[in-house]
Amino acid sequence: MSGTNQISSLLSEALEAVASANSVKELEAVDNKYLSRKSGLLTSILKSLKDLPIDERKQLGSAANEARQRLEQAMSEAKEKFQSPIADTSFDPTLPGISHRIGAVHPITRVIDRICESFHGMGFTIARGPEIETDYYNFEALNFPPDHPARDMQDTFYIEGGLLLRTHTTPVQVRELEKSKPPVKIITPGKTYRNEAISTRSYCVFHQVDGFLVDEGVTMADLKGVLVAFCRDFFGEELKLRFRPSFFPFTEPSAEVDISCFLCGGKGCQLCKYEGWLEILGCGMIDPNVLDKVGYDSEKYTGYAFGMGVERIAMLKYKINDIRLFYENDIRFIRQFK
Ligand code: DAH
Repeated sequence: MSGTNQISSLLSEALEAVASANSVKELEAVDNKYLSRKSGLLTSILKSLKDLPIDERKQLGSAANEARQRLEQAMSEAKEKFQSPIADTSFDPTLPGISHRIGAVHPITRVIDRICESFHGMGFTIARGPEIETDYYNFEALNFPPDHPARDMQDTFYIEGGLLLRTHTTPVQVRELEKSKPPVKIITPGKTYRNEAISTRSYCVFHQVDGFLVDEGVTMADLKGVLVAFCRDFFGEELKLRFRPSFFPFTEPSAEVDISCFLCGGKGCQLCKYEGWLEILGCGMIDPNVLDKVGYDSEKYTGYAFGMGVERIAMLKYKINDIRLFYENDIRFIRQFK
């Protein structure tokens, strides 16, 4: 066989080996066989050129170099193919994928967001305060007398150093009023704690949203207007509201608000315990003592405040009969709120 023929048959043999290689390792073996410096078949042809007459050397030399380049090119293309992830034979792109389950927003978060959205639409801004509070903000500044039963160890979780876990979100009212000038119009969602016996209706951790407005000339009519607007937005346009006199140390006068049952329209059903009404929040005009304590002139400024329990509202809205469901993290429960 002539020199050039020998080269071209070596090349086609080598290209065939490249084409049938199944892995980078097999390619390396081809590389070794034909191109290695010491013993590669093509290399040894190039090496033997030096003994040939000049004409033949030129002709064979260029043929051998060309063959080497073609082989190197084919080799690098094949290598690239193996290194791309799709060529990895352990990966089968036709297998069905693993679908990731998308979570749901917790019903409590959902209700808080919805309440905030409703009040935000009426011009309230949102503020948050610490869950670990001082006696001053949780009780004293809110006009609780020193012997008020809510201060009892039975009801409040006390921490060393005169601190406690806030029993309501109303202390945020005091913190916010202290650092602002009227008009102030804020809602304060957050977590609260009480030393309650755990049952279907009460839990040691729960959530509240308080709201308040302080300005010149604020009256109970403004309070009523804002609560009617909220309740209709949240529960339904057809609702009626009922204000019942009540008592809170930090408001005077104080009231509790009932809405007509949104399930039976007030006729009486299981949800409203056949009363036709559902109690949903506490409210009132901010007691002048509270305004004085934060340095506001209570002769000039008045304000209203209200506070609601998020769990209670969520239980009514979604007809949940056990408060503990919110905290058990049973995925089957949470998934229902997608
Ligand atoms: N803090 C009260 C509670 O935990 C709820 C409340 C009632 C908040 C009246 C208020 C309010 O801001 O004006 O039961």
